[in-house]
Amino acid sequence: MFQHLLLPLVALAISPLPGASQDPARSPAQEEPQDLDCGRPESSARIVGGSDAQPGSWPWQVSLHHSGVHICGGSLIAPSWVLSAAHCFVENGTLEPAAEWTALLGVHSQDGPLDTAQARAVAAILVPEGYRGVEGGADLALLRLAAPARPGPAARPVCLPRAGHRFAPGAACWATGWGDVQEADPLPLPWVLQEVELRLLGEAACQCLYSRPGPFNLTFQLLPDMLCAGYPEGRKDTCQGDSGGPLVCEEGGRWFLAGITSFGFGCGRRNRPGVYTAVAPYEAWIREKVMGSEPGPVFPAQPQGPQPGPPEHVDENCTIALPECGQAPRPGAWPWEAQVIVPGYRPCHGALVSESWVLAPASCFLDPGGADRPPRDLHGWRVLLPSRPRAEPVARLVPHRNASWDDAADLALLQLRAPVNLSAVPRPVCLPHPEHYFLPGSRCRLARWGRGGPAPGPNVLLEAELLSGWWCHCLYGRQGATVPPPGDPPHALCPAYQEEEEAGRCWNDSSWSLLCREEGTWFLAGIRDSSGGCLRPRAFYPLQTHGPWISHVTRGAYLEDQLAWDWGPEGEETETQTCPSHTETGACGLRPEPAPTGLRWPWLAEVHVAGDRVCTGVLVAPGWVLAATHCVLRPGSTTVPYIEVYLGRTGASPLPQVHQVSRAVVSIRLPRHLGLRPPLALLELSSRVEPSPSALSVCLHPGGVPLGSSCWVLGWKDPQDRVPVAAAVSILTPRLCHCLYDGILPPGTLCVLYAEGQEDRCEVTSAPPLLCQSEGGPWVLVGMAVRGSRELFAAVGSEEAWLSQIVGEAHFLPSSGSPYWPPEGSYLCPPDMAGASGSPPAALFLLLLTPLIQE
Ligand SMILES: *[C@@H]1O[C@H](CO)[C@@H](O)[C@H](O)[C@H]1NC(C)=O
Ligand SMILES: *[C@@H]1O[C@H](CO)[C@@H](O)[C@H](O)[C@H]1NC(C)=O
Ligand SMILES: *[C@@H]1O[C@H](CO)[C@@H](O)[C@H](O)[C@H]1NC(C)=O
Ligand SMILES: *[C@@H]1O[C@H](CO)[C@@H](O)[C@H](O)[C@H]1NC(C)=O
Ligand SMILES: *[C@@H]1O[C@H](CO)[C@@H](O)[C@H](O)[C@H]1NC(C)=O
Ligand SMILES: *[C@@H]1O[C@H](CO)[C@@H](O)[C@H](O)[C@H]1NC(C)=O
Repeated sequence: MFQHLLLPLVALAISPLPGASQDPARSPAQEEPQDLDCGRPESSARIVGGSDAQPGSWPWQVSLHHSGVHICGGSLIAPSWVLSAAHCFVENGTLEPAAEWTALLGVHSQDGPLDTAQARAVAAILVPEGYRGVEGGADLALLRLAAPARPGPAARPVCLPRAGHRFAPGAACWATGWGDVQEADPLPLPWVLQEVELRLLGEAACQCLYSRPGPFNLTFQLLPDMLCAGYPEGRKDTCQGDSGGPLVCEEGGRWFLAGITSFGFGCGRRNRPGVYTAVAPYEAWIREKVMGSEPGPVFPAQPQGPQPGPPEHVDENCTIALPECGQAPRPGAWPWEAQVIVPGYRPCHGALVSESWVLAPASCFLDPGGADRPPRDLHGWRVLLPSRPRAEPVARLVPHRNASWDDAADLALLQLRAPVNLSAVPRPVCLPHPEHYFLPGSRCRLARWGRGGPAPGPNVLLEAELLSGWWCHCLYGRQGATVPPPGDPPHALCPAYQEEEEAGRCWNDSSWSLLCREEGTWFLAGIRDSSGGCLRPRAFYPLQTHGPWISHVTRGAYLEDQLAWDWGPEGEETETQTCPSHTETGACGLRPEPAPTGLRWPWLAEVHVAGDRVCTGVLVAPGWVLAATHCVLRPGSTTVPYIEVYLGRTGASPLPQVHQVSRAVVSIRLPRHLGLRPPLALLELSSRVEPSPSALSVCLHPGGVPLGSSCWVLGWKDPQDRVPVAAAVSILTPRLCHCLYDGILPPGTLCVLYAEGQEDRCEVTSAPPLLCQSEGGPWVLVGMAVRGSRELFAAVGSEEAWLSQIVGEAHFLPSSGSPYWPPEGSYLCPPDMAGASGSPPAALFLLLLTPLIQE
């Protein structure tokens, strides 16, 4: 993010430069009269508001090449001396050898012909002793040329300020260089020297901007030898490759080198003006180092006389710039909403991203058969913008290079023939930088995108909260996906909708964009094509990966910084996380480690039976809950009761009961082969419950207990407030179980032993489930409690055939091929054990099948 992370300009391997005179070892004095003047270019015309410099307007500009590639700028201060930035030459605390560098003077376009250019070897590089890195100041370097430059219209020195010279805050000064034209966007051919007018900022005004937390809560303490230039609103700045180059201010008809381009936080970002090394404080250091060379640098007196200037007040007005994009009067009244009208087609919805450019899906405009050949004739194409009386003609269509085969890149930019005035309406939407991290819980809305129809039903403004990266990737990502840490571009953004899905509505015919809000400012965060199902879109392609392409094409789209950075416990995860493996029917049994407070057991259901009791249930597929038969069907009762199921509850805790889902039960299925009252019952829900962190199916295992897993009984502390609690248990081997409960157990019953002190954590009337999890794996439902017992559970794995016949989407993990239970030596019970139900003696711990894991 710092400018000293230099990005050399590519494809500039021209050394020595054609046309550059390599070797005049003659003294310039022999050639022409001594020119002791400084800071006076011959030509002074510049393109106002443009960015290509006129040849000869900045004759002190030097290009410093390393291995034939432009790396940094510099300023000619005397025939044999160039001033540049220390960070160009110091790598890892070590000064690079001078012999590897070449100084080029009189260069205009680096794409040559370089008739006027002079190349000089560098004889020595001098850096202040105190230099440690750009953040520590003293970022300047003196380069002694092996042979003096030949002064002429294309190579003249700039004037240096004396130590007492004060440049007035607000002065209009100029920075020049061949650096990037935007972040990560190199200067295009023919590499003509660029100039930009920048305003000097006073020390207090600049510190005020840098004391405001920027992206990722960054602030910066400026040092006395630093100078700021730019604008609070950003957009004009120096960038990578400009380092070492001049910041010059004109006073009394001469140009003074006020600063040396040093670093910045990004380029042209709001409230982050560029930072320059102030040259005036280094008068003595420069004089000392160049002593004896003739002619030396010129330090003219400040033209208006010595100006101590009024000391700046610390309470100087601190005017920070607010975002110029993403302001909407209210959700839904989107001032960037653009409709592209192509004769003969339905309007295509997109978003205004700058005064001249609209972003929309490329699939609106690319003929599916014609591959990626965009239409040539844009005659008749129009863009409708809010509050604009007439539709705007379209001048150009730029589809994304990968649009025709990559849904995540289904984007095109349309240039309006004339820019629109961005006042209140229309207004551009903000776009995220690649490193943007939309916080889990960010408030988002869906907006129309592409040729889609309106949302089914009245809910155009459907509100959503973003899921954390872990949930998003593990629920919807690819099998075994790794979760990108905050700051790395995500592969997907997932909204969790606040309202329950309405059955019967179909979202399949529409594309949507996802708008997310930070500190009151709206970002275009993601896009989603029609998913080809009736579901609301659940995973969006993030737009942030396309920020560089959009800014490269538009040169003015509003890429905005991270505005909210309270990452919270979930966002602080920086280690790479991987997701538990999926089953063939998708993700199941997910629970982040450590689980944040709130919704903790997404498959745990409250089964309200006939309004008079509540049983525990477990979601085993989007439309099915498994429960204990004895709890939902009372013995002796002949009628099927009215049953309702609630998911996403957290008990009567202070946490908000959001994302709660309820469904009626429309049928109860019992396995036939187990007679009249089998232990397990499947409850069919009135409609599906789509996977989310608050309602997600558990995994099942055909072989019973997955090897190497730890197990818990998951229930409620009491049946009234229903706060979920988990008690650690270990599962006994079948032999031990058989010995303890000799003769009384139906086949397929599991026995557990509670960890000390955890026996009565959960109450038993609601028939709690038994769950197991192997390290880093998903959670697996192993059993449901049999009536009246805390220790005995009806095994679920042995009912695989029945479960998968009724519930096609049941999440059975692949069987690991290992035996159901480890082999045992003997089927004889230890003599003192038979019939000793209750707590087995402590010595038997060694015989336990699963280890006890303390929570
Ligand atoms: C910088 O120094 C560190 C430690 O001495 C070393 O590990 C690293 O590779 C060096 N980097 C470069 C670019 O030389
Ligand atoms: C601060 O800003 C206010 C309003 O813009 C202005 O009236 C005042 O003079 C400014 N103060 C200073 C010290 O610039
Ligand atoms: C297009 O796709 C290729 C291959 O996936 C990728 O390397 C390239 O960066 C993409 N181009 C853009 C502009 O995103
Ligand atoms: C843009 O609109 C604003 C407010 O309506 C107006 O003051 C300004 O002059 C307009 N700018 C241009 C270039 O038309
Ligand atoms: C959308 O869903 C409806 C109802 O399920 C179906 O009739 C229609 O064919 C679907 N359309 C598309 C484009 O998938
Ligand atoms: C932002 O940084 C400031 C100062 O370093 C710190 O006090 C504050 O807690 C940080 N805020 C967040 C959300 O990290």
